[in-house]
Amino acid sequence: MRRSRDRSVWRWFDFFPVEKRSSIVSLGEGDTPLIHARRLGEKIGIPNLYLKNDTLLPTGSLKDRSNSVGISVAREWGVKTAAVMSTGNAAASVAAYAAAAGIESIVMVPKGTAPSKIVQARAYGARVIVVDGDFDNEVAKLYKGALKEFGWYDCLSSNPYRDEGKKSYAYEMADQLDGRVPDWVIHPTAGGTGIYAMWKGYKELLSLGWVERVPKLVAAQSEAAAPIVAAFERGLSDIEPVIARETIAESIQVGNPVSIGWRALAALRESKGTAVALSDGEILEAQAVIANLSGIFAEPAAATSVAAAKKLRDYGTIGAADVVVCNLTGHGLKQPEAIGISEKQFTPIVPTLDALRERVGR
Ligand SMILES: Cc1ncc(COP(=O)(O)O)c(C=O)c1O
Repeated sequence: MRRSRDRSVWRWFDFFPVEKRSSIVSLGEGDTPLIHARRLGEKIGIPNLYLKNDTLLPTGSLKDRSNSVGISVAREWGVKTAAVMSTGNAAASVAAYAAAAGIESIVMVPKGTAPSKIVQARAYGARVIVVDGDFDNEVAKLYKGALKEFGWYDCLSSNPYRDEGKKSYAYEMADQLDGRVPDWVIHPTAGGTGIYAMWKGYKELLSLGWVERVPKLVAAQSEAAAPIVAAFERGLSDIEPVIARETIAESIQVGNPVSIGWRALAALRESKGTAVALSDGEILEAQAVIANLSGIFAEPAAATSVAAAKKLRDYGTIGAADVVVCNLTGHGLKQPEAIGISEKQFTPIVPTLDALRERVGR
């Protein structure tokens, strides 16, 4: 496999629809660690469990893979204003890449979005509009109207250049596993761009003869917002929107993926994968074991991949010897309030050994 000194996704420049290298807007995204999580794997009965640690991307979520490409195209086109509606992670990512490109950014988020995500987008200089309404309805309606009215460059997942960036998952995994293909790749899923893009990326590698097959792809969703799981289980060729309920996995709380739900469904089926819905309890448990047994602090939405791996192993769908990659798509600090910490933990002790003994229970 061809290697270059650039370790960002841009070492795959030839695979992206960007004409000139001078258009590239990069913050060094990509080449995130693929970690063999031995302790965690042992706990859930999957010794060959790997974690793709995308919490380490420049703005702390997978969105940087797509926005690096999406905003590079915007720069190539001479765009003045880039916009996105978002549950928070895309907002921060678009804001950061737009800042680096010298493009104005406007991001819309639903009320109730984690303050840390709003702060992050604002810090990069975005105009952050918090909308009194839910993501799938009021925010989506306002956003669509605004695009029409103002002609902003649309950075939503329906922007095809964004999926292109997420193909880098496939390229990186193939590189990191020396061309070996995992049996399963599990991806926390909202609109389904990650699933579709990985499938597309692997198919490209297959046609080049760099890999021998495509892994089975698994979409992991919160059961409070699982239109892809529902459509997959019912054998539908497209998703039917659902009303998303509150969930701890707020980054993937999307009931009506306006973009490419049908393509994700096709990718799941063609890869012989599946789709799994997780309860908040399962998601929080996964978040805790990922942190405690592998040392990675992932946000709840990201932890759905490991929760799904555990569930599929318990069902026997994933075999004990299977090689499984779970994508960890967002940093835990994106939504710190998800971690229940007692008041006591914040209360200082007097600086004596006795007080310390009492606190640590020794
Ligand atoms: C942390 C996190 N994981 C996963 C996703 C899923 O994105 P998609 O299904 O579009 O690949 C998102 C965004 O919606 C996200 O913020």
